[in-house]
Amino acid sequence: MRDWTADALVIFGATGDLARKMTLPSLYQLEKREALKVPVVGVSFSNLDDAGFARFAREAIVGSGEKPEKKVLDRLLQRLRFVQGDYSDAATFKRLATLIGKAKRPLFYLEIPPALFEPVVQQLHAAGLDRDARVIVEKPFGHDLRSAQALNAALLKVLRPEQLLRIDHYLGKDPVQDLLVFRFGNTLFEPIWNRRYVSNVQITMAESFGVEDRGSFYDKVGALRDVVQNHMMQILALLAMEPPVTTAPEHLHAEQVKVFEAMHPLGTDAIVRGQYRGYLSVPGVRRGSRTETYCALRLEIDNWRWQGVPFFLRTGKALGATATEAIIELREPPKRLFGHAGSALPETNRLRFRLGHDAGVSLSVQAKRPGPGLESERLDLNVDFSSALGAMPLPYERLLGDALAGDSTLFATEASVEGTWRVLDKVLDADGLVHAYAPGSMGPSAADSFTAAVGGWVEPQGTVAAVPRTKARPVRGRASR
Ligand code: BG6
Repeated sequence: MRDWTADALVIFGATGDLARKMTLPSLYQLEKREALKVPVVGVSFSNLDDAGFARFAREAIVGSGEKPEKKVLDRLLQRLRFVQGDYSDAATFKRLATLIGKAKRPLFYLEIPPALFEPVVQQLHAAGLDRDARVIVEKPFGHDLRSAQALNAALLKVLRPEQLLRIDHYLGKDPVQDLLVFRFGNTLFEPIWNRRYVSNVQITMAESFGVEDRGSFYDKVGALRDVVQNHMMQILALLAMEPPVTTAPEHLHAEQVKVFEAMHPLGTDAIVRGQYRGYLSVPGVRRGSRTETYCALRLEIDNWRWQGVPFFLRTGKALGATATEAIIELREPPKRLFGHAGSALPETNRLRFRLGHDAGVSLSVQAKRPGPGLESERLDLNVDFSSALGAMPLPYERLLGDALAGDSTLFATEASVEGTWRVLDKVLDADGLVHAYAPGSMGPSAADSFTAAVGGWVEPQGTVAAVPRTKARPVRGRASR
């Protein structure tokens, strides 16, 4: 196997929002555990020099809430260099080449608008910097299936496939990777992980904050492209995939892609879109925009394991909770033997994976209610990962650390990116109602029809029992096409 260990890290877009909020704090964590051993060069249009970039980095790290250790921070700041310049100007890349000229396997991280991926890669090539380099590109990778294929083809005119790493920070989250370990590291769950025992699967990615200062980016993208096509579909693949032969990247990726291959392209009856009231006054949002800030989907996986089991996905901004959860809801026992305390309906077993800040897993079971008779009551067997297992790395810390160490396992492949676009391609742009919903609710009530037959949406833990719903009311009439 060839050695992809990087000997320099170059960040394009080094003074952008993502770099400030995620990349630089993650580099600090890598430095702290002595996993960062290479020079780091920031590139951007900003009028800074080395010292200015070091100040920017220090502020970003402190601003992330970290109380940096002086020794560690000094070590990181000493690694930093800065190249100011235009990405379309060959002189920028000449200056870069002078700085990292001796590096044999540089890692270029492109956290810049997608339209710049191709020109930057071409400039790297023209400057002779791409030969044994790897290039990480940020999401979104394409805007739909065709543009993703076109982008891929354009980048692969210069790069070999193994040089291109598509980052999806959800794949760098420990609780997301735990889905794999939980499923295939235990024998307990595999026998029930199929259509015989599972009634439905729900994935909720709820955010209580709105679009805020990202209006002009978000309005062109919407919830489907922003988080469903990537983060949520990757979670779904981990929940639904077959056991891999080994944990080698090719084996893992092959099983994940098969999940998308087993899905039919979604039709418009399988999606409900929403937009929170107030979105239209967010700076950068187009007048009368019909971009969805919420969507709910009903997906099916047409294979032996999952035939007939609905997978419900929903996500939204300005909802009543911030939580990412995956729910595996099991079927009822074949016969009802016990009365159920407090409700006429039996409650089924449910596995709840909490994939966000309060990461953990809980299993709800029925237990005997104390006292006479044989009534059952639901109990949650709950584990909180950070108290049970210790602190988790930041997702970008994990992914950048892996890329620096030459490991591409946790990066999305071309086949999986295109597989998810293919499933969503027909519903990417709103051609139906976009329901208005109240900020702080759990989205439009129109989405309830999807889950009505299985007892409704399972609300994230921590939200109030009676979650406010918003009655369907279109944001505007039907679209013209
Ligand atoms: C990003 C999206 O990819 O993921 C954001 O662009 C979203 O809109 C974010 O808020 C969520 O990430 P996390 O790690 O905070 O759940």
